[in-house]
Amino acid sequence: MSIQFEVMHKDIAGRVGRLTVGDKRIRTPALLPVVNPHIQIVAPGEMAAMGIEGLITNAYIFSKSADFRDAALSQGLHKVLGFDGLIMTDSGSFQLSIYGSVDTTNETTLSFQRDIGSDIWVPLDLPTHPDAPREVVESELEITMNRLREAKEIFGDEAPIAGPVQGGLHPDLRERAGREISDLGFSFCPIGAVVPLLENYRYKELVGSVLSAKRGLSSSACVHLFGAGHPSMFALAVAMGCDIFDSAAYALYAREGRYITTAGTLKLAELSELPCSCAVCRSHTAEELKGSPDKERLLALHNLAVTQGEIARIRLSIQEGTLWELVDERCRAHPRLLDGYRELLKNAPALEPFDRATKRRFFYRGDESCKRTEVIRFRKMIQRIHLTDRTLILCGGPQPGEFDDILELRPPFGAVPVELSETAPMGQTEVPAWDDTMLNSAFDGVDALLMANPDTEITFSASPEFVEKIRARFPSAQVIV
Ligand code: GUN
Ligand code: ZN
Repeated sequence: MSIQFEVMHKDIAGRVGRLTVGDKRIRTPALLPVVNPHIQIVAPGEMAAMGIEGLITNAYIFSKSADFRDAALSQGLHKVLGFDGLIMTDSGSFQLSIYGSVDTTNETTLSFQRDIGSDIWVPLDLPTHPDAPREVVESELEITMNRLREAKEIFGDEAPIAGPVQGGLHPDLRERAGREISDLGFSFCPIGAVVPLLENYRYKELVGSVLSAKRGLSSSACVHLFGAGHPSMFALAVAMGCDIFDSAAYALYAREGRYITTAGTLKLAELSELPCSCAVCRSHTAEELKGSPDKERLLALHNLAVTQGEIARIRLSIQEGTLWELVDERCRAHPRLLDGYRELLKNAPALEPFDRATKRRFFYRGDESCKRTEVIRFRKMIQRIHLTDRTLILCGGPQPGEFDDILELRPPFGAVPVELSETAPMGQTEVPAWDDTMLNSAFDGVDALLMANPDTEITFSASPEFVEKIRARFPSAQVIV
């Protein structure tokens, strides 16, 4: 019954995989909608019909409910919810983070999750607020780690127990927690206590926390980002190697009349059109939806459909190798997301070793594209090229005959031997008219090449528009026009 995770396709640090627990299997990345047994605005059976393979519910709510506790213990969770896909249960830790205390223990909640037939159980970890002082983060992390050890001791290595990674905003604590959790043998690892970051658009710190945790975790662990449910940030999180999300947003937002899109949330009251292709939006006008007695449920169905659609798009883009393009697009929707994206790009050298070798395309989308993993990898590769005495770099000028090595300037990468110019990633790259940023990025690539070949004599063959820029950057090189 242990939790198994297989990776099928990769892009950046993102993966398309398969999570298996017993006879339940889901494709990842996946979104697990949060189901509150008391408020089933969309019935789990209906979710299954929308292609939803897994959901998450709260064991604490079940255990404290006169109606649901006995039913779940006698019939099992799947029967009670009417859902035979994968069901994960949370422990009550989230209630703990909101109310300050809960009336259960680590062993009690895990036993209860086992007894109601949950597929993935969560220990009673402590979701420390990210702004708590370091001493508090550290001492609460120790309690969480002790509870994870206790879970393994009591329930054994085969029990399908998640290993939440805490550690607040401290990179060293997150990384250490990740490493210890992988060493303990946990293969399903939620990154916890990020909800306060998400609620306040603190995406830069989110990126820092996730990347720190990932540094410690085994790359074979399935990673769940606890409480992340807005589709505008899924691509960014997947690019860092998050595989599972859970969302109550579809229902919470619907209650407030809010309409989710991949670019942010809109107020239904302000919409004159429904800009979406889901069944609800195509069978109602905006006015009909606003006036519908079933408005909350219809909005929740739309919110779920958009969220699931984004997950499918992400899985497709990983298979194609176009995840950078999708991250770039999504992160333009809000300046704080752009901060998160830029923080991710700052860490691209650490992501490069995980990235795949070939992709469907590299579309240049502005300055940020110069920092992509493909550019970093090319820079490493270029240093292995040995040039002879006289090297020509073509930048739109004529091609005279008397050179030993002929390369082409290929922004944003650098100078590429003509023999390699159609190989990945250059062969899949489309750039607009050369701008200064991509030109400077290519010049950095030329520097790396020259550093590895200090004795070669360089000549540029340039079209007139680039001559001054080349002379300014490489004053000792020959330039022919
Ligand atoms: N839900 C949102 N964040 C958390 C967390 O850190 N731990 C648990 N158990 N549930 C959560
Ligand atoms: Zn819709």
